[in-house]
Amino acid sequence: MTDLVETSRDGAALCVTLARPAKKNALTSAMYRALIAALAQASEDESIGAVLLRGKDGVFTAGNDIGDFLELAGRAEASPGTLFIKALATFEKPLVAAIEGPAIGIGTTLCFHCDLVYVAPSARFQMPFVDLGLVPEAASSLLAPQRFGYAKAAQFIMLAESFDAVAARDLGLVNAIVEPGELYSHALAKAQALAAKPRQALLATRRLLRGDPAILVARIDQEMRLFAEAVRSPEARAAFFAFLQKAKA
Ligand code: COA
Repeated sequence: MTDLVETSRDGAALCVTLARPAKKNALTSAMYRALIAALAQASEDESIGAVLLRGKDGVFTAGNDIGDFLELAGRAEASPGTLFIKALATFEKPLVAAIEGPAIGIGTTLCFHCDLVYVAPSARFQMPFVDLGLVPEAASSLLAPQRFGYAKAAQFIMLAESFDAVAARDLGLVNAIVEPGELYSHALAKAQALAAKPRQALLATRRLLRGDPAILVARIDQEMRLFAEAVRSPEARAAFFAFLQKAKA
């Protein structure tokens, strides 16, 4: 198991920290597996009432590791990233995120699956899938138009424009902007407040608010079929190599 995802207990909340700061917490297959394991632990352990996600060193995540995208191209089976997305979309307990700095790709799209999202003023979101020759994931192709309206979804997914903390709050992706020094304690207090609610009533309410998870899973499967083709395409490979060349330089 990787140590690039850290888990710790804070009362009834399980705190999950993306901890690969040298690479802006970009997510590798091993990290996705650790995240799946953390969600499974939270599901099984009745003393855990909520999960809090955050990133280390002032960054949430730079999204999927771009080098890993090249490896995905050669694989037939579902990637750990896809399995994590499904685990996230079908997770039953409350999810809270505390976000500072870049939240790119899945860093943005996982917010659609969180119940509460708190950010520092430094938070910056982007869904650059099309620019990388890819298609959106994590059911964001369904959830972004629902949450933002079509015009804004097209702006942020097709044009791939980035947006800051204030825009994210105005779009309804984020609950509140909090001073960086208070972000973790604020988000933790909210996670613990959820964990302290009558459990069955809260989980039933969450299911009602979120609707049928089968619809999300069907959209994720549809996105992943297109993603699997896109990730092998010459335009995607060119974009990955361009990023990796720039990083080397
Ligand atoms: N995959 C792999 N490595 C990544 C990465 C990613 N998604 N994002 C950042 N890194 C690496 C960089 O290559 C660099 O590595 P190096 O120090 O060995 O050269 C290191 O992390 C620091 O990144 P850098 O770009 O120098 O930091 P920055 O503060 O200037 O910019 C970002 C931060 C997040 C804005 C920028 O790294 C970025 O745009 N990353 C790619 C985001 C992306 O397209 N993700 C895919 C989403 S589908």
